[in-house]
Amino acid sequence: MEEKVIDETKQGQSLTLEARKGNTRKLFIESYGCQMNFSDSEIVASILANEGFNTTTQLEEADLVLVNTCSIRDKAEQTVRKRLEKYNAVKRINPGMKVGVLGCMAERLKEKFLDEEKIVDMVVGPDAYKDLPNLLKEVDEGRDAVNVILSRDETYGDISPVRLGTNGINALVSITRGCDNMCTFCVVPFTRGRERSRDPLSILNEVADLAKKGFKEVTLLGQNVDSYLWYGGGLKKDFKKASEMEKATATSFSQLLAMVAEAHPKMRIRFSTSNPQDMTEDVLHTMAKYDNICNSIHLPFQSGSTRILKEMNRQHTREEYMQLIDKINEIIPECGLSQDIITGFPTETEEDHQDTLSLMEYVKFNFGFMFKYSERPGTMAARKLEDDIPEEIKKRRLTEIVDAQQRHSAYHTNRSLGKVVEVLIERESKKSNAHWSGRNPQNLVVVFPKEDYKPGDFVMVKVTDCTSATLIGEAIGYSENN
Ligand code: 5AD
Ligand code: SF4
Repeated sequence: MEEKVIDETKQGQSLTLEARKGNTRKLFIESYGCQMNFSDSEIVASILANEGFNTTTQLEEADLVLVNTCSIRDKAEQTVRKRLEKYNAVKRINPGMKVGVLGCMAERLKEKFLDEEKIVDMVVGPDAYKDLPNLLKEVDEGRDAVNVILSRDETYGDISPVRLGTNGINALVSITRGCDNMCTFCVVPFTRGRERSRDPLSILNEVADLAKKGFKEVTLLGQNVDSYLWYGGGLKKDFKKASEMEKATATSFSQLLAMVAEAHPKMRIRFSTSNPQDMTEDVLHTMAKYDNICNSIHLPFQSGSTRILKEMNRQHTREEYMQLIDKINEIIPECGLSQDIITGFPTETEEDHQDTLSLMEYVKFNFGFMFKYSERPGTMAARKLEDDIPEEIKKRRLTEIVDAQQRHSAYHTNRSLGKVVEVLIERESKKSNAHWSGRNPQNLVVVFPKEDYKPGDFVMVKVTDCTSATLIGEAIGYSENN
């Protein structure tokens, strides 16, 4: 299961896109952190394509280097700092190269970046990407440029993203930005601002465009997708001030999901991330109703102890979470479930830790992302609670949690032996060029011999073997979806 623990150092990625004719400048852009950052980088590449930039995967030949950053844990920030050192080394050889920091670290550190990291020319927060052309002008004229203003209504709904590093099969489509939950450990509400939803029409247009280009799967993205609410624009928290008309015609997440699924019955629809308190039965019934909405829910619970959940300002208890799991299992049998857990939150006792393990036992998640608590400056937890769990204890608890998850993952992959699953082929298997790799609707990775199939095909695969994280099988024919 170790590989399922997110390691930001593995997430950096240089990205390419088709060169636009006439563009002469070269952009090297890499992204760290969550899927939202990867999606945002596609918006940035689109804005900069209009400014004369094509992307390159060669750092050394770049005129502009952008790094889209993550602040969620200290380790994520350390990774970015190491990358900045690398850019600095290249800049010594190529002094004309400009460096910009985007995303959450830009928002968190603001101007401090320019002082601390002398190599940075530009600091741009997650809501300020449309200002990039102006900021670049400043930089070209030799001035440092900063825009970290958070917006009430920016969703980039009017920008058609340039798909980067794409396999032409799966795409990310962002539907909300920001988060209003204020979990006490989390820096996101400070770096990405208040929650707002994107116009459903622009979402439908984007998905239609992807379908036309041959994409087979979209993931609707947001920090808290179930909280999606479109009522004509503006912040979610201002919905109470909306007019009667706006309230009557508002679009909820389950409605959006149904619209997307109905418009593209041949496309797989996924979504992430869900928050227990906002997930409605409507969403579950919509998932059950449409075959093309994948039966898979990423449902972080963070801790199995109600006392810790309260300290985290999570809006659910252990019991409420379990009830929601029961509901999911009742409405969507065989739903793939995944989690996020933080271990070693301040004041966490051995008993709290056992509560986390027993909740995992109750649910038996397919997979998960497990982290040691990392104190983030400015958050409520950092201000109010001492980071009092020794590193050794955090480590031991994390190992126990990861081991439990590995057992549960193996339980699920073993249960699939002998079954036939539908797989959307995404790419060649990393371990063998004679095998394809794809996922089943529950989000499990499946590998099988290539035969005459090709990426983008929906194939029925009989599972003959497995590891704890992967199903191994043989194709028995095309799915009727193909
Ligand atoms: N320390 C450790 N993990 C964190 N996460 C968010 N903030 C922190 C933090 N300060 C984890 C949560 C969240 C996931 C994206 O990252 O589990 O769901
Ligand atoms: Fe952070 Fe909580 Fe919002 Fe997730 S729901 S982004 S953990 S504040």
